[in-house]
Amino acid sequence: MTRTIGRHFLQVPGPSNVPESVLLAIAKSTIDHRGPEFQELTKSILQKFDQIFDFSDPVVLYPSSGTGAWTAALSNCLSPGDKVLAFETGHFAVLWKNIATDLGLDIEFEEGDWGAAIDPDRVETLLRQDKEHGIKAVCVVHNETSTGVETNVGSVREAMDAAQHPALLLVDAVSSLGSLPYKHKEWRVDVTISGSQKGLMLPPGIGINVVSDKAREFAQNGKLPKAYWDWEPMIKSNKDGFYPYTPPTNLMFGLEQALNLIQSETIEEVYRRHQRHGAATRAAVQAWGLETVCRQTDHHSNVTTALMMPDGINADEIRKIALDRFNVSLGTGLGQLSQRAFRIGHLGDCNDLMLTGTLTGVEMALDIGNVPIQSGGVSVAMNKLKSG
Ligand SMILES: Cc1ncc(COP(=O)(O)O)c(C=O)c1O
Repeated sequence: MTRTIGRHFLQVPGPSNVPESVLLAIAKSTIDHRGPEFQELTKSILQKFDQIFDFSDPVVLYPSSGTGAWTAALSNCLSPGDKVLAFETGHFAVLWKNIATDLGLDIEFEEGDWGAAIDPDRVETLLRQDKEHGIKAVCVVHNETSTGVETNVGSVREAMDAAQHPALLLVDAVSSLGSLPYKHKEWRVDVTISGSQKGLMLPPGIGINVVSDKAREFAQNGKLPKAYWDWEPMIKSNKDGFYPYTPPTNLMFGLEQALNLIQSETIEEVYRRHQRHGAATRAAVQAWGLETVCRQTDHHSNVTTALMMPDGINADEIRKIALDRFNVSLGTGLGQLSQRAFRIGHLGDCNDLMLTGTLTGVEMALDIGNVPIQSGGVSVAMNKLKSG
C-alpha cells in the first residue's frame, strides 16, 4: 500500500468536512435514548435549531439521508393521485420527482435545461391556470447541488401568493441549510427538507423536516402510508425530549456540537463566509476562461460551483488527476452532466486556505489534463479573499 501524505481535501458538495470537535462529540459512549441525559440533549438541539434558524415550527429528525426526508415530506401531507408541481432544475429535482412518482403522486414536471433557477413568473402562470386548485404542493429545490444554481425561494412564495393558490410549499434545503440564507418562517415554507451532511457539518445520517401548522393539517387528511415517517409521533415524543423509535444517538451528540459551532461563529458570519468562498471560486473559474453550468449571474450557488469542461475533455479524468496527484476529492458530474462537468464544493467547515488549496489542486489538474486554461485563477481568488 502506498502511503498518502498529508490530509485529504474533501471538497465535494457534501458530505462536507466534519470539524474535529464534532467528531469527538460523536465518539462519546452511546447512551440510553430513553434516559434523562438524552432527554436534555433533544431539548437542547431543538432549542438551538430555533435560536439559529428562527423556524418557530417543529423540527423532525430522522435516522435517514436527505432522500428519506424527501419521502417523509411527501408521504405525510399528500394522498395517492394528488397533483404536485415540480421544476427540473437538475439531478436532485429529477430524483425527488421520481420518488413522488413512485409514491403514486401525479407530477406536473416543468422541464428545464439545468443551467437556470426556477422562474417565479412561470410558477405564477402555472398556478393561475390551476383554477380548481388541483395542485396540492409546489416542490422547490433551493440549492440545486448538481448544477450550482440557487433558486430564490422568497420569489416563489410571492408568486404563489400572487396567484392566490393554497398549495403547500415544500422546499429542499438539503444543501442550503446552514450555508445559504434560509428563511423558513418569512417565506412561509410548509415543509423544509434537509440533511446533516452539508451545511450542518455532520456525517450523513440525519434527515430533517421542519413542518408548518398548515402541513400538519394537510397530514391529518393525507392518505399515503406514513409508516416510519409519521410526523405526529415524532412531534409528540419530542415534546418530552424523546423519539418514538431509536434515534441516531451519536450523531445527535455531534449535531449539538455542530450547532454550538454555528452559534459561536454566528449564522450571519457563516452565510458571509460561504458568500466569499462562492465569489472567490467563480473568480478563479472566470480567470481560467471556463464556463460554469449556472448561466444566471444572480443565481450562482455559494455552496458549490459546477464547471463545464470543453468538448473532448472528460471531467472525470480531471477529477482523477486531482485525486491521484493532489489528494483532493471533487464532485462528479451527475445525470446529464456526467463526464461533462465536475463540481467544487465550498460548504460547511471550510476556510480560506482550504479553498485556495483546493483551487490550486484544480488548476494543476486542469493543466495536467490539457484543458486549455489561462493560468492564474488561484491568484485572482486569493486577491478576492484578501480584499475581505
Ligand atoms: C439538493 C439535494 N437534495 C437531496 C439530496 C439527497 O440527499 P441524500 O443523498 O442524503 O439522500 C441531495 C444529496 O446530495 C442534495 O444535494
